[in-house]
Amino acid sequence: MILVTTAGKVGSETARLLRERVLVRDPATATARALAEAGAEIATGDLGVPASIDEAMSGVTGVVLVSPAVPAQELNVVASAARAGAGHVVKATSKAPTGSPIARRRWQAEIEAGLTASAIPHTLLRSHAEGEAIAGAMPAGLGTAATVGGAGHYPHAQCPDQVAALVTPFLAKYAHA
Ligand SMILES: NC(=O)c1ccc[n+]([C@@H]2O[C@H](COP(=O)([O-])OP(=O)(O)OC[C@H]3O[C@@H](n4cnc5c(N)ncnc54)[C@H](OP(=O)(O)O)[C@@H]3O)[C@@H](O)[C@H]2O)c1
Repeated sequence: MILVTTAGKVGSETARLLRERVLVRDPATATARALAEAGAEIATGDLGVPASIDEAMSGVTGVVLVSPAVPAQELNVVASAARAGAGHVVKATSKAPTGSPIARRRWQAEIEAGLTASAIPHTLLRSHAEGEAIAGAMPAGLGTAATVGGAGHYPHAQCPDQVAALVTPFLAKYAHA
């Protein structure tokens, strides 16, 4: 059994595709009901309440962490997965420098560190894969995914010169005055 943590924008699509178990706070929402109809098992719980996560973790061998990057909450899930002997955790994250000025990026780094410390085998899904998928869906040869080293979610604000150096040749080639 695979547990998907929360049915937000990313989690509901994940749960719809996997049709395994998804943890939600309120099973009566339209989203939760639609997921149940699509074949997902609904577990009611709160990521701030470890006992409710343990209940949802019963019989779980794999966890997909697509919840908000709140360290206390996602680390509750990691601790519960360790107690349950789950074999693998997949976590949606980003390039997450510990010294980022953006709290959400630092929190991702904190969660990644907790995951590493747990020794549970895990896979980190970073945003570069998302960029590559978007570029791959564009007409052949048009799009390219590039990574700005050391940047977080807002490279245009953090490293404007590097972003300009990547974007300007593209605009020069394709933009029509
Ligand atoms: N959206 C994107 O495009 C995108 C892209 C890449 C990565 N991500 C990452 O994916 C993760 C999820 O993002 P999202 O956009 O899918 O989030 P979202 O749509 O805002 O959904 C968050 C979900 O978390 C639930 N939740 C919040 N606190 C909870 C708690 N204490 N216990 C149980 N459930 C709780 C909410 O439930 P309620 O309905 O009960 O409030 C909601 O279903 C984030 O880490 C985000 O950075 C998002």
